[in-house]
Amino acid sequence: ETAAEGQDGAAVGPDRTVAVVGTGTMGQGIAQVALVAGHPVRLYDSAPGRAAEAVAALTARLDRLVEKGRLDAAAREAAVGRLHAAEDPAELADAALVIEAIVEDLAVKQRLFADLEKIVGDDTVLATNTSSLSVTAIAGGLRLPGRFVGLHFFNPAPLLPLVEVVSGFATDPDVATRAYETVKGWGKTPVRCADTPGFIVNRVARPFYAEALRVFEEGAADPATIDAALRECGGFRMGPFELTDLIGQDVNEAVTRSVWESFHQDPKFTPSLAQRRLVESGRLGRKSGHGWFSYAEGAERPEP
Ligand code: NAI
Repeated sequence: ETAAEGQDGAAVGPDRTVAVVGTGTMGQGIAQVALVAGHPVRLYDSAPGRAAEAVAALTARLDRLVEKGRLDAAAREAAVGRLHAAEDPAELADAALVIEAIVEDLAVKQRLFADLEKIVGDDTVLATNTSSLSVTAIAGGLRLPGRFVGLHFFNPAPLLPLVEVVSGFATDPDVATRAYETVKGWGKTPVRCADTPGFIVNRVARPFYAEALRVFEEGAADPATIDAALRECGGFRMGPFELTDLIGQDVNEAVTRSVWESFHQDPKFTPSLAQRRLVESGRLGRKSGHGWFSYAEGAERPEP
């Protein structure tokens, strides 16, 4: 018996409630996407008041879309009316799809889903936005692991079309199809993949970052030069140093470390000492005002 029984892999319709658990950067972005697609959306965060703050932040974002002429006022009104902050996980009971975007910690995610499974119905699809943990491992303790799937959005979720739909060892193929069709209906470009460390994008991108860091560590060229070379000639929109400043050096290093460990410390994924020092010094990138480059208030391009 699985969550997909009788559902035939059809998308979760816009009349059905979508719950987003964890309302930080990614949770807010994902909630915006589901909301604009027409779903009633319920937000929950374990930090008191955080879900209500997310409702306020999302409302402000919708207001900006109206100002820019990308959303009409009536649609904004309706969307705000469909958005609710839940004070208690019990309020997520009627969700047809729950997307989790909480802290990247296996034990915490496992505990959350074990609790959620006691609240939601058996046909509710449970999804994780994890970027580096095993979807199979997160589902390990579930009563109905077939209903569990990875839905890996990219930051910023409202702007970037790609979503990796990750099937774990126990994921029911119909559930993966439901998840795929649902995000496709949201205007995203989903791709399917199996549960391997880093999935597709975060794995393929590892050597891009690692090799650039090695070029720098060998003293062959500085970050600004390497970035410029890749932008001007490689056709990349951003070089590896400015891109990791945008992602966050701490986040980027943690994903590298996780992929490296998962592949039994394969040397091609070895984390960089220079990046470790940067993280230790608090130079996390744009969010801390300084990473490989410094980000003066209002600066157009980063200063080395
Ligand atoms: P964040 O730190 O901005 O937000 C996490 C939120 O989860 C916080 O508001 C926190 O209070 C809440 N939370 C923590 N434990 C909770 C629990 N047990 N129950 C309910 N809420 C809880 O984190 P961010 O960046 O949004 O990342 C969330 C997830 O998305 C992580 O798994 C991360 O790996 C993944 N991800 C992050 C991307 C990024 O660029 N930041 C990109 C793609 C995936």
